[in-house]
Amino acid sequence: MERKRIGIIGFGARMSGLWSLVIKQAPDFDFVALVDPYPESAKGCLEHFGYNFDDVVLYSDVDEMLDKADLDGVFIASNCDTHTQYAVKVLNKGLPLYLEKPVATNYDDLYKLQEAGKGKEDKVVISFPLRVTPVARVMKEKIAQGAIGEPNFLEAWCYPNYGDVYYRQWYRNENIIQGLWLQKATHDFDYITNILGQEPVMLAAMNQKQVFKGDMPEGLYCVDCDKFETCPQGPYHMYLYRHEIDKIPARGDRKAFPYQCQFAKDTGNEDAGSAIIRYSSGMIASYDQCFFARNAAGCRGCKVVGYDGTIEFDWRDEKVKYYSHRSPLVETIDTTSTASHGGGDDILIDSFVHLVRGNGKSVANLTDGIRSVYMCLKAKDSCRENKFMELNFIP
Ligand SMILES: NC(=O)c1ccc[n+]([C@@H]2O[C@H](COP(=O)([O-])OP(=O)(O)OC[C@H]3O[C@@H](n4cnc5c(N)ncnc54)[C@H](O)[C@@H]3O)[C@@H](O)[C@H]2O)c1
Repeated sequence: MERKRIGIIGFGARMSGLWSLVIKQAPDFDFVALVDPYPESAKGCLEHFGYNFDDVVLYSDVDEMLDKADLDGVFIASNCDTHTQYAVKVLNKGLPLYLEKPVATNYDDLYKLQEAGKGKEDKVVISFPLRVTPVARVMKEKIAQGAIGEPNFLEAWCYPNYGDVYYRQWYRNENIIQGLWLQKATHDFDYITNILGQEPVMLAAMNQKQVFKGDMPEGLYCVDCDKFETCPQGPYHMYLYRHEIDKIPARGDRKAFPYQCQFAKDTGNEDAGSAIIRYSSGMIASYDQCFFARNAAGCRGCKVVGYDGTIEFDWRDEKVKYYSHRSPLVETIDTTSTASHGGGDDILIDSFVHLVRGNGKSVANLTDGIRSVYMCLKAKDSCRENKFMELNFIP
């Protein structure tokens, strides 16, 4: 098999997980070029799998990489505010692209991306693992088979129990991520729309900041804080209650616990929000996201109701439950897996690998990414303006 030359823009935590799947699925793929101002994660990941980082050419500039590296495909997994500018460059070269979400963080970028991607939508895989997890696929299939009749109502929820990430590391900078509709709901709006197979036509949303706010100083690190031993978000409390006392860092050791205050004046992002979406058939979907549930309270899933039945799932237990409205039948389909994102990442990587080899189809194309960001931006507008927003997305 002819070997494939892969370039990567932004190789951090997410890309490490994705590349570990590429190594397993595509031994013909060589990681040959990188743009990342801090390439330590890339080096660590390659060395972990027994590869030599010296074989990767590090470029300081994306244009230079695209001109010189003779690539067959590109991953973009840098910070959110850089996705569009890099994606446009890759699309202009006509290369297969794996693009992290959100595909844009403002309307200008979104329209630029749409323009650059015209006719190339299917050469892009958007990093939406949820839509291709077994639970979401089973639900879509059951609905398409008519198990509940026409889908007429949908309720979805997202209570990530790892929500601290959005208030203590770079994600807390709202200038970069532009809030949690774009960061989180982009996944959920995508899988909901995909399950229903309808276009969204109207949306209203509200959000709140009730928990992760406060008067602590800007730029404060937990290890430098006077409340080191008492704050429930700090390392002392966290490791004590996880019974991992040996992990409690020394005061001032930012390397051991590199996180910033979640109750500071500069802690960005709302901490919960709700959206109501009207779809083209007239049905309504509601979606709630809340970022301060923890431990076993974490959950994410949805329920769809028709005249003939109800079907629901939660990624917490990866089971789909079908309830007939015509008989006492309750059917449970267990899809439990140990794979990352419930197996969704494997399917995304498989899709990209086959696109690069020239014999594949995108399971989440550029149009899906753009539609979802458009919904998120409208949700932000609705929160700000206290108005219902018409959705005029033309795929
Ligand atoms: N699809 C998913 O399920 C999923 C899950 C987690 C993260 N993500 C997305 O992945 C992206 C990366 O998140 P992460 O958690 O890996 O963050 P990270 O900080 O671990 O990695 C980001 C990497 O990008 C590099 N980088 C920063 N600025 C850059 C620039 N201008 N050009 C090139 N590289 C640059 C950083 O040095 C770092 O190595 C984010 O956009 C996030 O939304 C997606």
